[in-house]
Amino acid sequence: MNDPCGMVFHKGQYHLYFQFNPDGLAWVRNISWGHAVSRDLVHWETLPVALTAPPPDFGYGTFTGSIVVDKHNSSGFCQSRDPADPSCLVALFTKQVEFSPTSKVQHQNMAWSNDDGETWSYYANNPVIDLKLDSFRDPKVFWFEPTQQWIMLVGVPKQFKIAFYSSTNLIDWTPISDFGTHGADGLVEWECPDMFQLPVNGNPDDVRWVLKVDMTLNNFGGSIGGRYFIGTFDGREFKPDFDIVDATNPWPEHGRDFLCSLAFEGAKDARARPIWLAWLNNWIYADRMPAMSFRGSASMPRTIELRSAPTGLSLVQTPWPGFDELVNSRRVYRSPAAQLAGLNAELERDADRFKACILDVVLCPASGAPADATMGLQIFHYPYHQEMLAADIRYSIANQTLTFQRGPYGIYELEHPMVKHYPATSRPTPVPLEEGELRLKIYIDFSSVEIFSADGRVGLSYVLLTDHDVKVPAVAASPGALEEVHIRAASLAPVFI
Ligand code: FRU
Repeated sequence: MNDPCGMVFHKGQYHLYFQFNPDGLAWVRNISWGHAVSRDLVHWETLPVALTAPPPDFGYGTFTGSIVVDKHNSSGFCQSRDPADPSCLVALFTKQVEFSPTSKVQHQNMAWSNDDGETWSYYANNPVIDLKLDSFRDPKVFWFEPTQQWIMLVGVPKQFKIAFYSSTNLIDWTPISDFGTHGADGLVEWECPDMFQLPVNGNPDDVRWVLKVDMTLNNFGGSIGGRYFIGTFDGREFKPDFDIVDATNPWPEHGRDFLCSLAFEGAKDARARPIWLAWLNNWIYADRMPAMSFRGSASMPRTIELRSAPTGLSLVQTPWPGFDELVNSRRVYRSPAAQLAGLNAELERDADRFKACILDVVLCPASGAPADATMGLQIFHYPYHQEMLAADIRYSIANQTLTFQRGPYGIYELEHPMVKHYPATSRPTPVPLEEGELRLKIYIDFSSVEIFSADGRVGLSYVLLTDHDVKVPAVAASPGALEEVHIRAASLAPVFI
């Protein structure tokens, strides 16, 4: 898979559609919408491909988009026999049509489903919006109650902007505004927009509009992920609270592999928090992964909200609590710095517990730690029975920043460009100590690691390739850095359906 798309909560089920090549592993020109459903966001059932790229239309791709519940049959295509619920599902998505190797167009299309998202009919007069652009994609649609209109956001990647449209029937769309900049700050390609209201400081009655846009940074070699803007929306225009060319516009995620996040339409938790997830991979190397059965996965779902920080409001992610149900055993490891070797030996003996696990790690720095002191957690694997570092999560006590580095990867030769980008060290991410401690919540799965810190203000998500499933965490600290360490480890039962 690549991007999640069309995510919607409907009749008790979360529907996750995703960019998918039904015929092979890598991204090609018949990209379709794969489909999976879940009642708890933990156990998923895969359903047949939903929106296809039918032959003979070679050079056709059903790209990213969104789904809404057309509650009152505004489209006129709902055929429900239940007068109390005349709704159906409507999808708006980008179709890419290639006329020749150098000429293509991306336009917005509409389809509807009268069987709760399993099969789809295409609107006969598609496209519904066509600007004859080669780069115009990823429509996100939502209902705006105050003006009784559907609103659509579409990325105009090469113009560094998001185009806003409104409609009353999901078919006829009127342009209403643009939001964007002009490639300032080295940013290129705006894609995969999403927009929602987030509660502030846990108050469901105090909500603010947040627009998230995925951007690639041309000085960083390719896809990076989302940036977000907090502002107001009046049904026509999104106005950010701060100047949008300000280079400090924050990233919701600091890891390499969290792209095109999307929130479930129609789903909020009891505290009015939307739930989102992303593609856990990166275009720089997605097609070159040395994996034989897949090329990418979804991240864990997380709830999102805003909380006050010294620098203003910031986006906070909380990993979906449903994973706690998979815990099959818990264990606590605790050690003063002087006995780290013993603790690490104990962790190694328990290797089987860490194939999929949740680690709550607390590292207490020593008072008077040297200025260059670092401490953190390393994850090892054992290709050919040799110990090899899979991930190095390292904290600088003086700078209060966290960095993440993978690899080198062991058993397979990494191809270009993975060989360069896979082990690249992350930018140092500011993570303040909490009550003098570094607190990390780390979710390790078979081929990923998702790290949360600073109460959810920092998220670092990464693909993690290891030999078989073996993973052994170990605490690492430079001399004089650490006073003591405390790890609560919960092993997770594998979920395969
Ligand atoms: C982002 C993206 C989208 C596009 C899709 C195609 O990962 O490039 O902009 O719709 O992938 O698969």
